[in-house]
Amino acid sequence: MTVRIMGTGSALPERQVTNEELARMVDTSDEWIRERTGIGGRHVSTGETVAELAARACMEALTDAGKEAGQVELLLVATCSPEDATPCAACQVQDRIGAGNALAFDLNAACSGFLFALHTAWAYITAGIYNNALIAGSEVLSKIVDWEDRSTCILFGDGAGAVYVEKSEDGGIISFVQHSDGSRGDVLSCGSRQIRSPYFSGDSRKMEIRMDGREIFSFAVRQVPKAVEEGLEKAGLAVSDVELFVLHQANKRIIEGIARRLSADCEKFPMNLQKTGNTSSASIPILLDELNRNGSLKRGMKIVLSGFGAGLTWGACVLEW
Ligand code: ACO
Repeated sequence: MTVRIMGTGSALPERQVTNEELARMVDTSDEWIRERTGIGGRHVSTGETVAELAARACMEALTDAGKEAGQVELLLVATCSPEDATPCAACQVQDRIGAGNALAFDLNAACSGFLFALHTAWAYITAGIYNNALIAGSEVLSKIVDWEDRSTCILFGDGAGAVYVEKSEDGGIISFVQHSDGSRGDVLSCGSRQIRSPYFSGDSRKMEIRMDGREIFSFAVRQVPKAVEEGLEKAGLAVSDVELFVLHQANKRIIEGIARRLSADCEKFPMNLQKTGNTSSASIPILLDELNRNGSLKRGMKIVLSGFGAGLTWGACVLEW
C-alpha cells in the first residue's frame, strides 16, 4: 500500500512585479537577474495571506480530485512565513475551506517544507492512521524580504500550491529521502519576532532573509543529485527511467547544474521560476499543478520531486504519477 497524488491546485497573488520594476527600487537590471537566476518576474502579495492563498490552492486540489473538504482527514501546511504564530496556518485553512473533520497543523522546513509534509502524510497514511491528506506549501515571502538588499529581494515570490493524496494500491510514492544539517543554519536565515520580554537580555534578530548565495548554490548542486540518486536506488530505478524531475524552483543555474551532475537531459527539468520567482515551500506544488493542468503528467510516468533550502534541509521523492 502507498499514497498517490489525486488532485493539484495553486494560487498566486494578483500583483505581478517585473525585474524592471525592481530595478527602479534597487541597483540591478533585468539582464543581471535573468542571466544569474532565470527569473523574469514574480507575484507579490498586496494583502493576500499565507492561509488565504493556501485555502485557494487546497480548494482547487479538492475539486481536481473530485473530493469535498469535509472528507479530508489530515491537513498540512508547509510554510516559513505564516502571518500568525498561532493559530497555525493549517487551522486557518481548515476554517476557511470547512475541513472540519481534519487534523490540521503546520510544518516548517523552508524550501523543503512541501516535500517533508508529503512524507509526513505518507507516514500517517501508510501507518493506517488516516486515509487521505490535503497538503499545501504556501508563502508570503515578500513580508520577510529585505527590499533594500539587491542580492535577495530579486529572488523571491509569493504563492501557494496544494495536492490531495490518498491511500492507493497502485502507482504513487515509491521512495523518500530526507536530510537536514542544522550546523549550516546561518547560510540562509531569517529572524522571527521582536522579543518584548522584560527578562530577555539578548538581541532579537531582524525579521529579514539573510543568505550566502554562493554557499547555497554549491550546497544545492552537490547534495540534491546525491539525494535523487539515493531515492532512485531505494526505488530500484535509474536516472534514465525518470521522465520528469520537478525540483524546487530556486534558480535556473542551480537546476541546470543538478541536471548536469545527474547526466540527465535538461528538458526533463520543467521550470516556471521565470514567472513565479522562488516561492520556497510552494514552488514544487505550484509547478506540479501547472504540469498537471497542461497535460504534461500522465498516469504511469515516473517522476522525481526534490526540495532543498534553509536549515539546511533537502530531500527527494520518487513516485509514479
Ligand atoms: N543586481 C546586480 N548586481 C548584483 C545583484 C543584483 N541583484 N546582486 C548581487 N550583485 C552583485 C554583487 O554585489 C557582486 O558585486 P561585486 O562583485 O561588486 O561585489 C556581484 O553581483 C557578484 O555577486 P555574487 O553574490 O558573487 O553573485 P553570484 O554570481 O554568486 O550570484 C546569486 C548571486 C544569484 C544569489 C547566486 O549566488 C545564486 O544563485 N545563489 C543561489 C541562491 C538561491 O538561489 N537562493 C534561493 C534561496 S535558497 C533556496 O531556495 C534553496
